[in-house]
Amino acid sequence: MIPPKPRPREGKGSVWRFIREFRRDILSAQSDRLYRAWMAEFRGPFIHSFTCNDPSLVDMVLKRRPMDFPKSPRMAAGLQPLLGNSSFISNGATWLHQRRIIDIAFERGRVREAFPAMHDAAEAVVERLAPLADGSEIDIEPHTSHVAADVIFRTLFSIPIEHETASQVFESFREHQDAQPMVNLGGLIALPRWARYHNRRVRHSARRIRRLIKTLVAERAADIDAGTAPQDLATKIMTTPDPVTNEVFTPREMIDEVATFFLAGHETGASALAWSLYLLSGSPYWQEKLAREAKTHLSRDFSCVKRLETARAVFREAMRLYPPVAMTVRQCRHQETLRERRAPKGAQIVLSPWHLHRHQKLWDNPDGFDPGRWDTPNGQSCMRDAYMPFSQGPRSCPGAGFAMIEGPLLLAAIVRDYRLEEPDKPPVPVMRLTLRGKDGIHLRLHKR
Ligand code: HEM
Repeated sequence: MIPPKPRPREGKGSVWRFIREFRRDILSAQSDRLYRAWMAEFRGPFIHSFTCNDPSLVDMVLKRRPMDFPKSPRMAAGLQPLLGNSSFISNGATWLHQRRIIDIAFERGRVREAFPAMHDAAEAVVERLAPLADGSEIDIEPHTSHVAADVIFRTLFSIPIEHETASQVFESFREHQDAQPMVNLGGLIALPRWARYHNRRVRHSARRIRRLIKTLVAERAADIDAGTAPQDLATKIMTTPDPVTNEVFTPREMIDEVATFFLAGHETGASALAWSLYLLSGSPYWQEKLAREAKTHLSRDFSCVKRLETARAVFREAMRLYPPVAMTVRQCRHQETLRERRAPKGAQIVLSPWHLHRHQKLWDNPDGFDPGRWDTPNGQSCMRDAYMPFSQGPRSCPGAGFAMIEGPLLLAAIVRDYRLEEPDKPPVPVMRLTLRGKDGIHLRLHKR
């Protein structure tokens, strides 16, 4: 099965044409050459950037010298109203402090403790889908967003999405996203810095979300003081001191991080799950294999996770073809030489999982859907050198372990109970906050 891919731009064209197309759709504005090239330089009126596909360059930027390639202020500009100065956009000493605390909270043992809550969310979405399983075409994206948000609230604050404050955060978040369609998690924003401003709707919805989170954080702080707090991720994050400075997060820092976990944690998981379901709808072989596996092994016991091998391979392959954070940007702190080209201080480094994951010189059958590839020598070497849905190095996603349990679990629960059938028209991938379908991601559900 060869799933949909935007038609790339052909030929060179003018810089202005590129900018026009980029503003319409970042993915299809990119040149076809990026699926074969190791690096591409772009000079525009407001930007000088280098898209790096060479695994050794990616390794240098993300793993060997990450402090010389901080996150770009472009990223901060789009996300700051909601995220404040959270770990997702901060740099330097502030970021180091935040990550020291977060990494402790996301240790593997914690994810294990969170598993029953994830499982409850999985059973809840299976139930919500029941009235829709009559074979008519539905957009699955709102449902994957809903369940991913449910997982975050249940694991972070031990409340389901139906909780009044949780559902208000979820609703306000939709508004926030509608108010700024050009912002994406990777920080690729088509407007120059001076031309960007946050309209009233953006500021209003961000303030509302932060106010709601503030209430949750204050209530939890009171429960911690009273000794009645549940032992979930929020309690862990709020009570873990930075092992170097011994300081715990201030309430404001905690609001920044909760907003980040909500944004980075639910939008990404929702995108990966929706694409996984779509891909399975066109692949009866993998769908039936996964359904058998889920029927045999899925349970509320954490030990079932290691047996969900097909679910994991499918989820991994879906994130190869449709990485939720399809591109991300760093900035050169000093002048650099990249494959014999001079990159001045301040130049943007674009890292593109979208292109790296489909690179024609690296992958066998780069555009095909094949969850079996992970057992081949090519799949294994590419997983090491050319696969980064969670980024790589010290700034990689702290929620990766969490997401690799949540995603296969949700997928297995849905496919155990429903047979998926392809839609009439395939989805068109576009970069919104994460990688989504232009008009949603449609499919048909039938009760098994
Ligand atoms: C399928 C699910 C997920 C995917 C694909 C994903 C992907 C990513 C990627 C690519 C980054 C790096 C972005 C960049 O460098 O520009 C990142 C960072 C981050 N993610 Fe995730 N993520 C997922 C789930 C989660 C979850 C569940 C959480 C927490 C509950 C989370 C929290 C974060 C945070 C806090 C960062 C910022 C890390 C830093 O800059 O130090 N993510 N994620």
